[in-house]
Amino acid sequence: MTNADFEKIVDTSDEWIVSRTGIRERRIADNGISTSDMAVAALRQAIDMAQCPHDEIDAIIVGTITPDYRLPSTACVVQEKMGFPNAVAFDALAACTGFINGLSIARAFIETGTYKKVAVIGVERLSSITNYKDRNTCVLFGDAAGAAIVAGDTNGRGILSTFMKSAGNLRELLWMPTGGTLNPYTADFTYDGSDKLTMNGSEVFKVAVRQMCDAAFRVIDKAGLEPSDISLVIPHQANMRIIDALRKRLGVTMDKVVLNVEKYGNTSSASVPLALDEANRAGRIKPDDHVLMVAFGGGLIWGAALVRW
Ligand code: ACO
Repeated sequence: MTNADFEKIVDTSDEWIVSRTGIRERRIADNGISTSDMAVAALRQAIDMAQCPHDEIDAIIVGTITPDYRLPSTACVVQEKMGFPNAVAFDALAACTGFINGLSIARAFIETGTYKKVAVIGVERLSSITNYKDRNTCVLFGDAAGAAIVAGDTNGRGILSTFMKSAGNLRELLWMPTGGTLNPYTADFTYDGSDKLTMNGSEVFKVAVRQMCDAAFRVIDKAGLEPSDISLVIPHQANMRIIDALRKRLGVTMDKVVLNVEKYGNTSSASVPLALDEANRAGRIKPDDHVLMVAFGGGLIWGAALVRW
């Protein structure tokens, strides 16, 4: 969907959307395509790239806020579709930070010797929870999936450090009030958008800039590095202005930042793996590069991971 498409359905303009967010287009999944379908499409490519036999995958972690079902997890559906016979599968519900949380869990599994190879997926069919009558939110979101195979390495490569934090007291800044056990659908539920994403954008913006910077500096410090050691920054693609503020505080030049928000919009947990994959396929990541990933989302929750490639 382009900005011109949104001009036809809500009171907005290409100029407003581009100047406030940097977004020009987003991808919307066809009817009948489920979150697990998108996850499998991404995971197949990751498995091919890693040349990893299916029976070697020990765990599947899916970061998503748009699961196929309330039960079972989307990860379990992905396991069945992929045919990974030896894996445990579960979801990580952490909005836009889902992929970073997945990486953190995978790292813990690997470092404790629990598992050797973990598939981490960030996938969202945000179009299914977007209120297309609310101009404050609908222009922001798109559908996408990305996946990575995380494995141990003896050459000092891999996930060097991670950081995650939440502020549950700020949950109402970005949430879906209706549809859970507290405010379930009732027989007389009339559609008012409360079962879709609702956000106080300007308040989320302020917390996002502050906490993404804090998370980034923490993982750099934990890894014993300086911001100048970072080869590539892969930020959550929510808003060009948030990314630019992060970049300035880190003191890195724009050529060290992966940016694709223009093409996909905010794809929540899929945003970081999508950008990682595009950067990798474009040859922007070389062996031993330090890659910083940082994200922020509804919860509120935020986190970062620092990888030596
Ligand atoms: N078109 C035109 N006008 C609009 C639109 C639109 N699409 N959306 C909002 N406006 C109007 C508002 O109604 C408001 O009008 P008013 O002043 O008459 O009330 C005005 O624009 C300004 O609104 P703000 O909210 O102050 O705009 P802001 O500059 O903050 O930009 C935005 C809004 C883009 C949402 C920004 O706040 C943002 O990106 N926030 C962070 C989003 C984020 O990072 N979310 C976390 C991840 S998402 C997840 O977890 C799923």
